[in-house]
Amino acid sequence: MRALIVGATGLLGHALYRHLLVRPGWEAVVTTYDIVAPGFEKLDAMDASAVESLLDRVRPEAVIFPASNPFVDFCEQHPEETRRLNVDATLRTAEAAQKRGARFVFFSTDYVFDGKKGSPYREEDEPLPLSEYGRQKLEVERALAAAGGRWTVVRTAAIFGWELQPKNFILQVLARLRSGQKLKAASDLDYTPTYAPSLAEGVVGLVEKDAQGVFHLAGPETVSRAEFARAAAAVFGLDASHIEEVPFAAFAGQGAGRPQHSALDSGKAERLLGRPLLGARAALKAMKAAAQEWEDYSGKLLSGQGGRP
Ligand SMILES: NC(=O)c1ccc[n+]([C@@H]2O[C@H](COP(=O)([O-])OP(=O)(O)OC[C@H]3O[C@@H](n4cnc5c(N)ncnc54)[C@H](OP(=O)(O)O)[C@@H]3O)[C@@H](O)[C@H]2O)c1
Repeated sequence: MRALIVGATGLLGHALYRHLLVRPGWEAVVTTYDIVAPGFEKLDAMDASAVESLLDRVRPEAVIFPASNPFVDFCEQHPEETRRLNVDATLRTAEAAQKRGARFVFFSTDYVFDGKKGSPYREEDEPLPLSEYGRQKLEVERALAAAGGRWTVVRTAAIFGWELQPKNFILQVLARLRSGQKLKAASDLDYTPTYAPSLAEGVVGLVEKDAQGVFHLAGPETVSRAEFARAAAAVFGLDASHIEEVPFAAFAGQGAGRPQHSALDSGKAERLLGRPLLGARAALKAMKAAAQEWEDYSGKLLSGQGGRP
């Protein structure tokens, strides 16, 4: 199976890339936008003709598209700018993949829901995004469904793990606690955190099974943000006393709207894959165990000595 991963320097894209390096039967061409990494093709997904010529050259059977601007508050403040990648370039790439018979894999979010259901969301639940980011994701989902062809929408949530440009919640928690800074985390906002390497494995499993349609694929454990931050402190041996538990309401009016209870029920994907992804606590332990290996690997990659074997 030949895949093109557009946005393989990001959190999920890089986990997908590393997983495909060791997954039997796969080869992948991978792209970067900003980061300089040996063996990665430079691609701006907003450049339609560059996308078309890369597709013609690579002839992938699957186009996996984690490229996105996933910064929820930035999307709220810059709807037109972020739509150019998150909606327009995404749909153009999907159409170009479609024309060449390739499966298009798109990543959506728990932020398509308003968080008021009271139990984990299933694929058939009615979306009602509270933010521009959620609306952009939903628009792509609906356009893919309307266009037909071979497509997979993976709705996931709160991805964490080691990444080339540290930004995810757990890395923020670790950085703050290590430098003795305070961290506010909501004790009544709950969700299903998802470990990037485990998600990558699940996504590839869905593609191998020709999974068509919308799939929830997130960690199986529902935790509050505060609980998750405390679990990270415990696993990494850091002092949790700097974690200040605050109510979700304390963040009201700050930035984009976010769902308060957005756990995803991933049962449909789990049945197809034969198992759930790694739970939040087990994944934090796996992340800690991988710390040194990641430091060595990413150091080499970013200094130009690493890259594709
Ligand atoms: N992170 C989460 O918690 C979360 C939750 C639910 C859903 N999702 C969705 O999952 C997907 C992956 O998220 P992520 O957190 O892994 O994202 P990320 O770390 O921000 O990675 C985004 C990737 O897109 C690339 N990119 C940016 N602009 C581009 C452009 N114009 N053309 C081509 N590539 C471009 C980036 O390249 P450079 O690194 O080279 O700039 C990077 O490789 C996204 O669709 C996101 O919305 C994420």
